[in-house]
Amino acid sequence: MRTRRSGRLFSGAVTARTYFIRTYGCQMNEHDSERAAGVLETMGYRPADDVESADLVLFNTCAIRENADQKLYGHLSQLKPLKLADPDRQVVVGGCLAQKDQDVIAQKAPWIDVVYGTHNLGHLPALLVQADSAALPVVEIVEQTEAFPSALPARREVRHHAWVSISIGCDNTCAFCIVPSLRGREKSRRMGDILAEVRGLVADGVCEITLLGQNVNSYGRDLVRSGDVASPGARNRTLFAELLHALGDVDGLERIRFTSPHPKDFTSDVFTAMRDIPSVCEHLHLPLQSGSNDVLRRMQRSYRARRFLDLVEEARATIAGVAISTDIIVGFPGETEDDFEQTLEVTRSAAFDSAFTFEYSRRPGTTAVDLDGHLDPAVVNVRYRRLAQLTRELAGASNARQVGTVQQLLIEGPSKTDAQRFSGRTRTNRLVHVEQHPAAHAGGVVHATLDEAASFYLLGTVTDAPLDAPVGTPPPRTRAAV
Ligand code: SAH
Ligand code: SF4
Ligand code: F3S
Repeated sequence: MRTRRSGRLFSGAVTARTYFIRTYGCQMNEHDSERAAGVLETMGYRPADDVESADLVLFNTCAIRENADQKLYGHLSQLKPLKLADPDRQVVVGGCLAQKDQDVIAQKAPWIDVVYGTHNLGHLPALLVQADSAALPVVEIVEQTEAFPSALPARREVRHHAWVSISIGCDNTCAFCIVPSLRGREKSRRMGDILAEVRGLVADGVCEITLLGQNVNSYGRDLVRSGDVASPGARNRTLFAELLHALGDVDGLERIRFTSPHPKDFTSDVFTAMRDIPSVCEHLHLPLQSGSNDVLRRMQRSYRARRFLDLVEEARATIAGVAISTDIIVGFPGETEDDFEQTLEVTRSAAFDSAFTFEYSRRPGTTAVDLDGHLDPAVVNVRYRRLAQLTRELAGASNARQVGTVQQLLIEGPSKTDAQRFSGRTRTNRLVHVEQHPAAHAGGVVHATLDEAASFYLLGTVTDAPLDAPVGTPPPRTRAAV
């Protein structure tokens, strides 16, 4: 039996209990953490400055690669002595790894209070109450939510930006990926609910939103299938393009971003929406995963390299100055040196403006685990470093092309590496550091001349000069032989 728990006493006054959330993984998890914070605050908790001083520590976990698991267990073991010294402290583990490994977590750390899965966040208050009188961790995991989860209160980290969930789950079967087994079948949110949320956010000071879904451009297919939406749009557009147009009409919304679309479902109406709607930013995240058709087939990614490059070409031809980023996995089972060379070739041809590169990580429960030809990690690491070197060069060249132009920056806040500077993002999602300036505060919009480029950032100077168009990537000199 664990006893509890009022606030802490300082000079006779009861102060609110405090919480600290550590988030692993993707933007969906960041958004879920904002909702967890909102739920805790409605219970009367207040934010703590760090893990050590918090009365409640919540780990919102990720399971996408093995190192995400290791990070969690490392952080839990650091916390154990604090918890044992102060049993009144609450420790909660939620999210994707909790969904996958609830029993392992409860076994490895029987001293924690609550384990909850990806569909159970709304029950957190009840679970915390149950944990008060339980000897072992209270575990609650369900396999699937029936409806789109009702909007829980979110406590946003910043005032000017918000994540907006348009769908949850994923119906794809990428062989390497654990997400569908953790987040369930794809469920789209009704367009009216999305628009109502966005209008409310704008009224609350938000000027930039990022639409979230595992596969944003299949948005709404389930609504059409179930008869909730009559047709895929009167203008013969996909529902995702319809949604972008509807959001483009929201007054006061300056920037719309989305992540991630899937190449197999990409349609031209999304490119034209990106071109025609002023608030949709000129940035496209289009995950390649591999440049080898053979590997793509075994990954169960149903597009091929040629189709991917055609999409890149169409994006660059349609949306002036668009920046394209990607995700690539190196060392998928059976990947040969020749397959890997094709990934390098497609990467060079696509001339990605930035890239997230990953070494393949074996995830029990995914179909790739049973494939032949798992590679020696040393071989994978050498390939990984070769690809990272190429993507770094491409990113540096892309940033260098912007030098001398004036771009719009939305300031995010003080630079994480240099207290003398502020950092912001261009519409194309490039990170730019500028010196301190009265207009350079979180949520401020400034014009900046871009003076110097590095691979992962630019340095700029705030200016009154008019904006230039972003400089796009020239078409490749040679087309890859794919
Ligand atoms: N739904 C998104 C991807 C979400 S996961 C999409 O399809 O674009 C983010 C990225 O993690 C993936 O694009 C992939 O590159 C990487 N990833 C997923 N599973 C992985 C694994 N088992 N090993 C290494 N990287 C992986
Ligand atoms: Fe995973 Fe593929 Fe779904 Fe993305 S589309 S979440 S990579 S299964
Ligand atoms: Fe995201 Fe990791 Fe879950 S990438 S969906 S938090 S497994």
